[in-house]
Amino acid sequence: MADTAAGAVTSVTAFAPGRVNLIGEHTDYNQGLALPFAIAEGVTVEAAAIEGDRIEVSALDLAERDTFEIATSAKVEGWRAFIRGIVAELRRAGVELVGTRLRISGNVPQGGGLSSSAALEVAAALALIAAADGECPKRVELAKLCSRVENEWVGAQTGLLDQLTSLYGEEDHALRIDFRSLEVTPVTLELRDHRLVMLDSGEQHSNAASGYNERRAECARACETLGIESLREATLDHLSQLPEPLDRRARHVITSNKRVNDAVEALRRNDFERLGGLIDESHASLRDDYEVSTPAVEATVERLKDSGALGARIMGGGFGGSVLGLFGPEGDPPDEALSVRPGVGARLLS
Ligand code: GLA
Repeated sequence: MADTAAGAVTSVTAFAPGRVNLIGEHTDYNQGLALPFAIAEGVTVEAAAIEGDRIEVSALDLAERDTFEIATSAKVEGWRAFIRGIVAELRRAGVELVGTRLRISGNVPQGGGLSSSAALEVAAALALIAAADGECPKRVELAKLCSRVENEWVGAQTGLLDQLTSLYGEEDHALRIDFRSLEVTPVTLELRDHRLVMLDSGEQHSNAASGYNERRAECARACETLGIESLREATLDHLSQLPEPLDRRARHVITSNKRVNDAVEALRRNDFERLGGLIDESHASLRDDYEVSTPAVEATVERLKDSGALGARIMGGGFGGSVLGLFGPEGDPPDEALSVRPGVGARLLS
């Protein structure tokens, strides 16, 4: 229990950031590559140990609450599923939790594709462990644990992109993540006179409710047909063996992995024109091959391109959410666009 020397219960505060993915979408669950970064916006969870075996949660921005027994395994809907899932998964991993009061607040737009859910999972996990004076699992293990919450408690068959980024974020760096080896390599991302912005398409997205799980199942079917373990092993030569639309789904993954390496190279050379071109190619692939765009997203991409973006693309799970735009010094992004830059990863603030 996080007590002061005098015995009074103190509180601990954890923060976990949301993320932007520069390039490499729907590659994480295909053991591929991605190049995300953590952003300054995120979720803050304050935790204080309390008497008894309950978890009392206040979601301050929603003015909603939840109270449950630490040992409960009852499934619920909405934001409550994330917290109950984290508590259950931490216990399953052998972390001894104590009765805790949690206060949650955040500034990542929800459903905007900036990974407010991973930020919530990671911040809640760090706060609960600290309040119990528990030992924090390694970052990669914590990412897997948080991802299990999405998979088993929320019903979204998502990969590790969001959680690894939230945990490994570094200022002025994107992260090249290899989802086969789970190796995370920081890549310098100094924007100088360029800007990266997010523009909301106005269409809320939810991984659990969208076609996300269907895409994941299609990739699994493509692997089965090809007799391979993951699409990381697929090459363009394989495509003729796949029926429509599995051939296009696989092509998206294969070309995305290459685009990630090309983007790393472009960043090494500070070649933002090239990066913009790769971002545009990524959007075309997500729209035509992976089919996760929507009319509202297309209109948002067009708005960014009309404002002079060097590149613009749908980001995250797709089917709505936010659009990423890269602007050079002459570009003029819409006023309501949110400027984003690479920031530090999840941490205890106190
Ligand atoms: C969502 C999921 C991630 C990843 C992206 C698509 O953000 O949570 O695991 O699959 O979509 O790249």
